[in-house]
Amino acid sequence: MNSLQKPLRDGQGRSFPYLRLSLTDLCNFRCSYCLPDGCEEHHHESTLSLTEIKRLVSAFSVLGVEKIRLTGGEPTLRSDFRDIVEVIKAVPGIRRVAMTTNGYKMDRRVESWMDAGIDNINISVDSLDPRAFELITGHNRLQEILEGMDKAFAKGLPEIKVNAVLMKGVNDVQLPEFLDWIKHKPITMRFIELMQTGDNGAFFDKYHVAGKTIRDQLLENGWVRMTRLKDAGPAHEYCHPDYEGRIGLITPYSKDFCKDCNRLRVTSQGQLQLCLFAESGHDLRHLLQSDDQQDELIAEIQKVLRLKVDGHFLDQGYTGNTASLAQIGG
Ligand code: 5AD
Ligand code: SF4
Repeated sequence: MNSLQKPLRDGQGRSFPYLRLSLTDLCNFRCSYCLPDGCEEHHHESTLSLTEIKRLVSAFSVLGVEKIRLTGGEPTLRSDFRDIVEVIKAVPGIRRVAMTTNGYKMDRRVESWMDAGIDNINISVDSLDPRAFELITGHNRLQEILEGMDKAFAKGLPEIKVNAVLMKGVNDVQLPEFLDWIKHKPITMRFIELMQTGDNGAFFDKYHVAGKTIRDQLLENGWVRMTRLKDAGPAHEYCHPDYEGRIGLITPYSKDFCKDCNRLRVTSQGQLQLCLFAESGHDLRHLLQSDDQQDELIAEIQKVLRLKVDGHFLDQGYTGNTASLAQIGG
């Protein structure tokens, strides 16, 4: 065993079994809260190569990380997406590879993602009304995403998490449709409170609505809050005896949201980010240039982790350096 090997832990004693790795900050959707004008390709800097990704994941795995979530932008825009999944899956110690996708061409591709080794899929679906979906994302693609999910279930994926960003007057009034949809499907439907980023201030003021509105409707209709498991993600989950699916609420503005944070992020250019809203990242890429650098890389990650501060300051209107979540994946 490497003498440096011990589980990652920050100054508050939080541990990090799981890393979110952005593969690109490009996205082909134009979600109104994230990239309303789409991506400008020419701003795109070179992303980590397959070899750099392998070195990065190997170092985190030595430090006890067992699960990697691939995010973006839209991770599947990388033509080597399948190779990346296969390479990560083969790193000793990595047990699960998950992905967060906008579902683009999912009906045609999901089986190949699963064949490459994907174990968990999170998909964004902000509305089940095709017209509203198109207005929000700029794409008339709801149907292909729904078909993609059915294909994933048919191929044996046990469950899917679906994310919807809560928007006042848009989807906070569509809870009944979402509930009908998950009645007989193993879907956890997660409502995420809209977060303010550097680029979406006016949109935020108009559409932000507290997750409490959903929680109140759930409790009135017989849904029950589930006990949180240790190492649970950021969602508070609710279940109902008549429903196969569950509901999750992610409320970044609530007190204590950061207390159990076990999320660690690396951007597509190899910057370790301690928080979505961190002022800046810590470059790891210069330590990904040769296999011989592994000990140095591990020591650097351990050093940076000691800096992870207690929480963000979103509730004070502070957005750090994050223009949109496409930069580092939500
Ligand atoms: N606030 C809340 N959620 C957001 N996402 C993207 N931008 C925001 C924002 N400003 C969500 C996406 C996706 C997840 C990765 O992050 O909808 O589901
Ligand atoms: Fe793309 Fe996700 Fe941003 Fe939508 S929220 S524009 S899918 S990165």
